[in-house]
Amino acid sequence: MSTFQAPKGTYDLLPPRSATFLAVREAISAPLRNSGYGYVETPGFENVELFSRGVGESTDIVSKEMYTLTTKGGDQLALRPEGTASVLRAALQGNLHKLGGLPVKLWYSGSYYRYERAQAGRYRHFSQVGAEAIGAEDPALDAELIILADQAYRSLGLRNFRILLNSLGDKECRPVYREALQAFLRGLDLDEDTVRRAEINPLRVLDDKRESVQKQLVGAPMLRDYLCDACKTYHEEVRALVTAAGVVFEDDEKLVRGLDYYTRTTFEFVHDGLGSQSAVGGGGRYDGLSEMIGGPALPSVGWALGVDRTVLALEAEGVALDIPAATSVFAVALGAAKPVLFGLVTELRRAGVAADISYGGKGLKGAMKDANRSGARFALVAGDRDLEEGVVQLKDMQSGEQTPVALADVVDAVRAKLA
Ligand code: HAM
Repeated sequence: MSTFQAPKGTYDLLPPRSATFLAVREAISAPLRNSGYGYVETPGFENVELFSRGVGESTDIVSKEMYTLTTKGGDQLALRPEGTASVLRAALQGNLHKLGGLPVKLWYSGSYYRYERAQAGRYRHFSQVGAEAIGAEDPALDAELIILADQAYRSLGLRNFRILLNSLGDKECRPVYREALQAFLRGLDLDEDTVRRAEINPLRVLDDKRESVQKQLVGAPMLRDYLCDACKTYHEEVRALVTAAGVVFEDDEKLVRGLDYYTRTTFEFVHDGLGSQSAVGGGGRYDGLSEMIGGPALPSVGWALGVDRTVLALEAEGVALDIPAATSVFAVALGAAKPVLFGLVTELRRAGVAADISYGGKGLKGAMKDANRSGARFALVAGDRDLEEGVVQLKDMQSGEQTPVALADVVDAVRAKLA
């Protein structure tokens, strides 16, 4: 072991488990790539203010969890704690919303950073695949995103997840509700921190997991009863479209997300095998975010699915992804055959066959171990005598059967066998 270890709350992705992460990213993004979403990549850090304005000054993410730094030039930057504000910033800066054809549909995949209390499923560096549909207010768009996330999880073989759905109202009806809720909360016996939270973000109090708080919340005014007609109709349409697609969800009127930008549709994907960090993904509509960061009115909706927690969910369900061996052919060279086989491996690779060779001057036994470990379907074995005869031995690693193949025919023979 070296003197250094990965920082607290982080971990390394190493083979073979890292292959699962790649497969999960691939599986989550596939339905998006198939539905008109274009790839976007933004910097790992942004101006702090983008997040304090966008995600919200009062959220845990901004008030406690951001990694901030001051550059030598005096700029205040933050490692990105989430992707939505950055992607919207990039779309505005690139004028994508002016090119015609709204919504602008984008997907992304990357690392995010939150200074959280580290525990199983909660890390300080984690990975998300996300989607944002910018510039359209259309219940079908909200429904599309929920359906695509469901498709992504199902394609991975996940079954024990649930979709929680809620509407948080809009700038007309939410303030009215907020006041009613605050009035109710002021009459309760709450600790100092919670009283403060009730003043800044009363909806979050509904989310308090403590029994002592939940007991007092019985009879609290519910947002559902305050939604304006436009929000109600919108929400019913989203529900109807998701239902028509055969995607099952649960109405959860207490679902409040940890970011301030949400309006109307909000949803979360929870997995029942993960303990306290059960949210594998989440998202919703953010009709006001563009204006909050200085852009024009661009009603938008999106989600982000956590790659780390999705992998944990797969493990909890005992789902092993079908990940093909990275190497199809492994060359084992003895004596003077090394340069010849090295040349063949290069040829195979150029022909698109995944090939590898034993390194380090090992004998037959050691090199065959390498071949086994690689998971290759075939081994190419050659020693001095084979070369004299102008052949290599093509060994089927499953049956053990071995056939000599003329040097000039190796690439064709291997491709034919693999086909
Ligand atoms: P979020 O709910 O904060 O939403 O994060 C989405 C997902 O990222 C979570 O459900 C979880 O799987 C994963 N995640 C978050 N924090 C951690 C952590 N500390 N360790 C491991 N995984 C974590 C957002 O980030 C919004 N930007 C989603 C969105 C997109 N809303 C609209 N568009």
